[in-house]
Amino acid sequence: EGGNISQWIRVRDDLLGEYTEIGAVAASNAVACCSSGMTAAHAVQFDEAQRLCRLFACRGGWRGCRKCRNAANSSLPHVWVRKLGDGRSCWRTFQHRVDASVNFNESWAKYASGFGQGENANFWIGLDNLHLLTRDAALPVRWEFSDWNGTLNWMENAFFQVDSATTKYRVSVGEQLMDRSTVKQCSNQ
Ligand SMILES: *[C@@H]1O[C@H](CO)[C@@H](O)[C@H](O)[C@H]1NC(C)=O
Ligand SMILES: *[C@@H]1O[C@H](CO)[C@@H](O)[C@H](O)[C@H]1NC(C)=O
Ligand SMILES: *[C@@H]1O[C@H](CO)[C@@H](O)[C@H](O)[C@H]1NC(C)=O
Ligand SMILES: *[C@@H]1O[C@H](CO)[C@@H](O)[C@H](O)[C@H]1NC(C)=O
Repeated sequence: EGGNISQWIRVRDDLLGEYTEIGAVAASNAVACCSSGMTAAHAVQFDEAQRLCRLFACRGGWRGCRKCRNAANSSLPHVWVRKLGDGRSCWRTFQHRVDASVNFNESWAKYASGFGQGENANFWIGLDNLHLLTRDAALPVRWEFSDWNGTLNWMENAFFQVDSATTKYRVSVGEQLMDRSTVKQCSNQ
């Protein structure tokens, strides 16, 4: 993972919560932030006033901070992040839980249509939406979870597809990608 501008993409992000600042180096422009071998950084931000490159590490590994949820928010600052590959630039959130203020013990109809406070808070996207998102392409899936003291773990599976209502949303999940996981999957034995 060396510095290479073609492997970075400029997005808008708030760099809050999911990142840790790991340092800063002098730089003349934003491109230099990405192209001069920032090997440890998962995201970089160019501070034009100070001509500084601020370096960030994602708490969830370099793929973990790439949520689509901030992509359209034009009031957020510009940040350079590494591309995910596979032609994608970010993960779409389909479930998110932050506290107990939303009841997830809901009806079949609610699980089909979706509920919650939006993807920045407690959120379930809905099985019909999940089917639409996954029916045309075998997308990888990523699960992130933290324990009560905030220790973050994650795992990825090679693909994830949700069938339509006629099959009661039958799910297909590909093999776990061990090199993109901090945990082992439980076996069925
Ligand atoms: C940068 O990455 C791209 C895509 O992976 C690759 O084609 C290109 O050769 C790399 N350039 C350098 C200078 O390493
Ligand atoms: C955009 O980001 C700002 C700053 O984080 C936040 O206050 C605002 O609610 C966001 N807007 C949307 C539409 O997400
Ligand atoms: C979920 O809701 C059902 C129906 O209201 C109820 O019978 C059940 O006890 C609830 N389960 C939990 C874990 O709260
Ligand atoms: C949090 O708890 C886990 C075990 O549940 C432990 O391994 C880890 O060191 C703890 N982290 C902190 C920051 O206390």
